[in-house]
Amino acid sequence: GVRTKKQGVSGESSPFGQNSVELKYFDKDFRSKQLIKDAILDNDFLKNLEPTQLREVVDCMYAINVKTSHYVIKEGDDGQHVYVSAEGELEVMKDGKLLGKMGPGRAFGELAILYNCTRTASVRAASNARMWVLDRRVFQAIMMKTGLQRQEENIRFLRSVPLLKKLPTDKLAKIADVLEVDFFHEHEYILREGETGDTFFIIRKGEVRVTQNVSGKEEPQEIRMLKRGDYFGEKALLSEDRRTANVIALPPGVECLTVDRDSFNTLIGDLNELREKDYGDEARGAQRVISPSIENSTE
Ligand code: CMP
Repeated sequence: GVRTKKQGVSGESSPFGQNSVELKYFDKDFRSKQLIKDAILDNDFLKNLEPTQLREVVDCMYAINVKTSHYVIKEGDDGQHVYVSAEGELEVMKDGKLLGKMGPGRAFGELAILYNCTRTASVRAASNARMWVLDRRVFQAIMMKTGLQRQEENIRFLRSVPLLKKLPTDKLAKIADVLEVDFFHEHEYILREGETGDTFFIIRKGEVRVTQNVSGKEEPQEIRMLKRGDYFGEKALLSEDRRTANVIALPPGVECLTVDRDSFNTLIGDLNELREKDYGDEARGAQRVISPSIENSTE
């Protein structure tokens, strides 16, 4: 059965309402970041995290290895960690019965942490396995940050974006409210020239390379690099309906904040800088490309 723990019995249970837990970030590749993000969004109990909370969970997880047949979680224990499986196979057991198996990309161990109950099931490694771990105290500290604190953080970043820095705070707050976060591993195509698209991107971490097809050249040519605080993806939302260039994540990967077409139109699309921007495509002899994969699509 599930045992509910008494609240507030010791100093240890005071992370509720207390923000003194320092958030320590652990480096990880951007493929892992995306795996963690997808796993969290796929978990019914965790998928409603705010984008800022999601980002912090991703940044604060660290890796452990577990050998075949070792237990990660034992039914009835107090929960100290939340996990995301990264490699190998895990078995979920309750009262000695197998409830299910989990491969990579699954978030688990959330119930005891979210509901302050004992572990509802055991989780055992069915092969050598690797997983991402988040300490309970850190998870709770991330959850306890108020909406206001999170919004202030986002606004602070948005104000550092040259395109947006002159906007009044209430407008920045509205943009902060609709931002999502997305991770791209090195060499991943974030955008492909010729595809249709509905997303605007602001780079929060890392760098991208922009390439474009130009008349007289076989291969797409590099036309610029973009870094933290730069944006891309606005053209397909403003005038062209197709992406006018490729955008590729450089090593070690890229973290973007994204805005969808509707929010972009109401909050960002009327900025003069965007309307007046001339990338020099004509002078360069840029060629309009229609991506073949899209021509056949039903969109
Ligand atoms: P928690 O109770 O903290 O620890 C055990 C975890 O196993 C639990 O959180 C869930 O993440 C997971 N779990 C519990 N029941 C099931 C089930 N029936 N199928 C798959 N996973 C489960």
